[in-house]
Amino acid sequence: MAEVQLHNLEKRYDNDTTAVKGITFTAHDGEFVVLVGPSGCGKSTTLRMVAGLEEITGGDLLIDGQRMNDREPKDRDVAMVFQNYALYPHMTVFENMAFPLKMRKVAKPQIQTQVEQAAKLLGIDNLLKRKPKELSGGERQRVAVGRAIVRKPKVFLFDEPLSNLDAALRTQMRAELKRIQRRLGATMLYVTHDQVEAMTMGDRIAVMNKGELEQYGTPTEIYGEPASAFVARFLGSPAMNLIPGGIVSEEGISFFIFGKGEMSLKIPLPNQLPSMNVDLGIRPESIQFSVGPQNSSNAFASGKLILIEPIGSVTHYHIEWPDAFGGTLVASVSHSQMVSGQSGISKLGDVVSFEIPSNTVHLFDRDTGKRL
Ligand SMILES: Nc1ncnc2c1ncn2[C@@H]1O[C@H](COP(=O)(O)OP(=O)(O)OP(=O)(O)O)[C@@H](O)[C@H]1O
Ligand SMILES: [Mg+2]
Repeated sequence: MAEVQLHNLEKRYDNDTTAVKGITFTAHDGEFVVLVGPSGCGKSTTLRMVAGLEEITGGDLLIDGQRMNDREPKDRDVAMVFQNYALYPHMTVFENMAFPLKMRKVAKPQIQTQVEQAAKLLGIDNLLKRKPKELSGGERQRVAVGRAIVRKPKVFLFDEPLSNLDAALRTQMRAELKRIQRRLGATMLYVTHDQVEAMTMGDRIAVMNKGELEQYGTPTEIYGEPASAFVARFLGSPAMNLIPGGIVSEEGISFFIFGKGEMSLKIPLPNQLPSMNVDLGIRPESIQFSVGPQNSSNAFASGKLILIEPIGSVTHYHIEWPDAFGGTLVASVSHSQMVSGQSGISKLGDVVSFEIPSNTVHLFDRDTGKRL
């Protein structure tokens, strides 16, 4: 199939907006790469440059090592599926799916075979005679995917294809699209602003922010070692807690000093850090409600429970922690921990003790947002 390389890819629109500011990554053959980021960060623009629907104003686009910048969309061997499906309303499902093949003057019997194969793979072979208006949202979505896969392109480009579907259908289609991509062994670039979609579907994730690539890596790398405070907050729900503070070093050991200075936490980094302002990040699931003997390398504190959100498998506890900083921390406790009584949790309004294990924290430079 195909390898897609973006080298310093840039898009400057006529109105002088630089929507994409030189991004570089490689989608290897057969990989499912998700582009994720907030609205307006340049995801669609990037995808449209790969498709050839938008002129590339800087950098290079290579598919299988060949420069594609100036090739017509039809000569790039890519297929794109949009959010609104863009099916032809007057055509049947069969005709919609056959359309790209017809345009390429493929012989009729072969069109028949290829459409039937694709329809079978997608589970819509019983709908071939219907018109789009006689289909559900999920079925229409499948037809749009079908139209993209019939001609077996090298690369698939998907721009938020599931955002018009309800939550249950979206979850189902997520798994199906992933299955289809595996079956076809296709290289896929998939745009979404949904972090769950990114984490569950991506072999690799490109996290974008304001036209720049913040990080490119596997879901595990991005979640476990976020390159910046932005990435840390964007992936994971509830978001990672960020606690403002400073670094102080003594005799080769660095300490994080919480907001007002009454508490510190030994930093598990090999090198002594300079004194600087940082944000300490901790995931909600890493905060522990202390029950055992105190471990001197961790930080202990207490705060008032101001909100309890049970969502089934986990419960989120919002803790007011005025001693350390003016904000609220969120801690998550899994259902199994609660049942086994490990959490020692109390009710709304109670003051609870909790622990921040030093080996689970992340530190970000306050000025640059980068991870230390
Ligand atoms: N044709 C255009 N001319 C000028 N500016 C544009 C054009 N298209 C997009 N932009 C700007 O480029 C930036 C990136 O837009 P883009 O559509 O790529 O964002 P996105 O990440 O896909 O956002 P969303 O999640 O909302 O779809 C935005 O600031 C947008 O306003
Ligand atoms: Mg978009």
